[in-house]
Amino acid sequence: MDQPENNPSQAVLTSEPNAPGAASTVMEARSLKKIYGSGEKSLAVLSDANLSLRQGEMVAIVAPSGAGKSTLLHLLAALDTPTSGTVYFANKAIETNDDDAALAEFRNRAVGFLWQRHQLLPDFTAAENVAMPLLLRGEDFTSALGMARKWLAEVGLENRADHRAGELSGGEQQRVAIARALVTGPTVLLADEPTGDLDEQNAWAVFELLERLHRTLGLTSLIATHNLALAARCDRILGLEHGVLQTRGAAASASKAPGGEAS
Ligand SMILES: Nc1ncnc2c1ncn2[C@@H]1O[C@H](COP(=O)(O)OP(=O)(O)O)[C@@H](O)[C@H]1O
Ligand SMILES: [Mg+2]
Repeated sequence: MDQPENNPSQAVLTSEPNAPGAASTVMEARSLKKIYGSGEKSLAVLSDANLSLRQGEMVAIVAPSGAGKSTLLHLLAALDTPTSGTVYFANKAIETNDDDAALAEFRNRAVGFLWQRHQLLPDFTAAENVAMPLLLRGEDFTSALGMARKWLAEVGLENRADHRAGELSGGEQQRVAIARALVTGPTVLLADEPTGDLDEQNAWAVFELLERLHRTLGLTSLIATHNLALAARCDRILGLEHGVLQTRGAAASASKAPGGEAS
């Protein structure tokens, strides 16, 4: 299959004079705070979340429901705006108040997002669902569909390309969602409990697929999960407690682990 282009989107990135450190840092969050609501009803979910993702790392976030995992992933993907703090991509600050078109470009090209619930359009075919991000960025229907079919083959679903998404099993739907997240050739994969709704066997199969794609595509991946056995396969594990990220352990084999600090 064609290697996806791995060029970070520059569209919404402004110059950051104090851009953080190493060239191999792909994505960074500094002092992220997220407070939902205001006044007495306000809820502080992230208080001071710091994170540095280096090229090629596969990092797990393990924390209980309600700890703020989805909130953090949404902020990293520029799907939501932090109350304060900054997300950097390729050492440039992401300006979520930039114009919509530029931001859509960033979301479409830099980051692949796997939703907690796959968020496929049930009445569209698997191929149409996978083609959707390409259509949104203006590619023509025939080439987008062609690319979608290649990606469905890559996740083992070439025989399901013309089936409606709503007719597929949970594991198949998550594979379609993986193809849709990667069809744009993102640099970073953010996965929000990608195996949360699957039985154990399907969870392992989907995780192994993610691991393989992570490695072969040279992705940088951050995966929220409740599953400690799956998290242990990642290069390192972060916890999220009281709105702060901390190291829970270096997992996986030494040969895989790029090493380094957690936040
Ligand atoms: N849009 C929102 N408005 C208000 N509260 C929210 C919103 N989104 C999430 N929350 C609350 O923030 C907390 C963290 O949610 P979330 O990030 O979804 O946690 P997790 O993914 O770890 O389960 C929860 O208490 C949740 O109810
Ligand atoms: Mg969540």
